[in-house]
Parts: sequence; structure tokens; C-alpha cells
Amino acid sequence: MQSHKKITIAIDGFSSCGKSTLAKALAFELGYVFVDTGAMYRAVTLFCFRQGWVNKETVNQEAIINGLNEIEIHFERNKETSKLEVFLNKELVEREIRTLEISSLVSKVASIKEVRQKLVVEQQKMGEKGGVVMDGRDIGSVVFPNAELKLFVTASPEVRTDRRFKELIISEPDITREEIRLNLEERDHLDSTREESPLTRTEDAVLLDNSDINQQEQLDLALELVRERMNG
Ligand code: DC
Repeated sequence: MQSHKKITIAIDGFSSCGKSTLAKALAFELGYVFVDTGAMYRAVTLFCFRQGWVNKETVNQEAIINGLNEIEIHFERNKETSKLEVFLNKELVEREIRTLEISSLVSKVASIKEVRQKLVVEQQKMGEKGGVVMDGRDIGSVVFPNAELKLFVTASPEVRTDRRFKELIISEPDITREEIRLNLEERDHLDSTREESPLTRTEDAVLLDNSDINQQEQLDLALELVRERMNG
């Protein structure tokens, strides 16, 4: 697609709705930078888990807040796969952050104001020049409230559970659909009811329900919207 100006694209929605898949495809198509902000919250959570600051039973908010300056997160492109991968204090943690254990703790850590402030500043820096597709929960509402295009992606709970199951069964063969369904339900609840920048659909966000369309159809719909905004 011939680009007129480099716009900012904010993609928000519940867990496992296909936000990252869409964001990656859009970024590839447009030659933009893709930023998976969920990976950043997951990397912080992994660090806190390893330090013993968060587990199933407790969250030591004070330790997490005091320890935030020990955490450095960045993305690097894998030369073989061309995929952007997340690094925690220079360690590649792309696999470690995607386990169900970290998924079950991340919403607790992501609800801490100081954690969000740190990551939002970094996300704004990554997108300050435009030409970015960023996915998360608060991108259109907090990180880039002036984004030219905001998408709110959704899919039915069954479709989302199924997608996550297919992904996780490869690395966690004992996992059950029920565990995943419960984790998604719990995260939806925590992410949308937390005090600090909860997941909300802003008025200017376009709703994209991908329960009954495939990835290409979803991408085509999004590209149509991008064209409109570039010309608008
Ligand atoms: O997109 P994901 O499922 O990898 O995100 C993991 C968690 O991080 C999610 O449950 C909520 C949190 N998150 C957030 O609070 N704000 C964001 N911008 C991105 C993710």
C-alpha cells in the first residue's frame, strides 16, 4: 500500500482475540513497527515472579514498585524468523512469558499504577514518530489517545479459548480447555474492572468482531480503514 503519512494504529481488546495477529500483519503490510505491549507486562511479571514478589496467593506491591528500576525490557528482531522478540534484562524470554503460570499472574502486576506508568512512557517513546501498530488494553485510551486509527478487537469466548488452547498445547501438553477458559474469564474481569486504566472501548474505536471471519478477511477490513485514515 502506498503510504501518504505514517499514522499510529492502536489495537485494544480482551485476551486472545487475535489482536497481535492482526497488529503483526498490519505492521508487515504497511512497513510499520509492531509493539506487543502485553509482552512487556508479561516480562515485568516474569521478573517479579522470579524474585518471589508475586505468586498465586500474594502480590508484594511495595517490592514490585521499589524493584521497577531493576527491570529493562526491549524488543529485538530475530534474524531467522524476522519476528520481534522480547528481552528482559538482555535475556530472551519470549517462551517463558507465554506460559499459563505467567498468564495467571500478569493481570495482578498490570494493575499496579507504577508498573503502568513505567511501561506507558516506554511505549509512547517507541511510537513517537508514528508508523507504529501497538496492541494492548489501554493503547487507544491512554498511550495514544490521538491515534489516527483505533480498533477494538473482539471474538466469542469459545473462539478465544480454542485459539489459546491450540497455541499452548504445544508447549504445555497437560493443559485443558477449561483451565484456559477460566484464565481468560478471570483476566477479562481483572483487566476491565481494575482502577488503573481499565480496558475500555473508546467512543472513536472501530469494533472488529473476528469470531466468524478469517485472518485475511480481518486484515482486509483493517487495511480499508487504514486507507481511509491516511487519506482523511
Ligand atoms: O495481550 P496479552 O494477553 O499478552 O496481555 C497480557 C496481560 O497484560 C493482560 O492480561 C493485561 C495486561 N496488559 C495491560 O494491562 N495493558 C496492556 N496495554 C497490555 C497488556
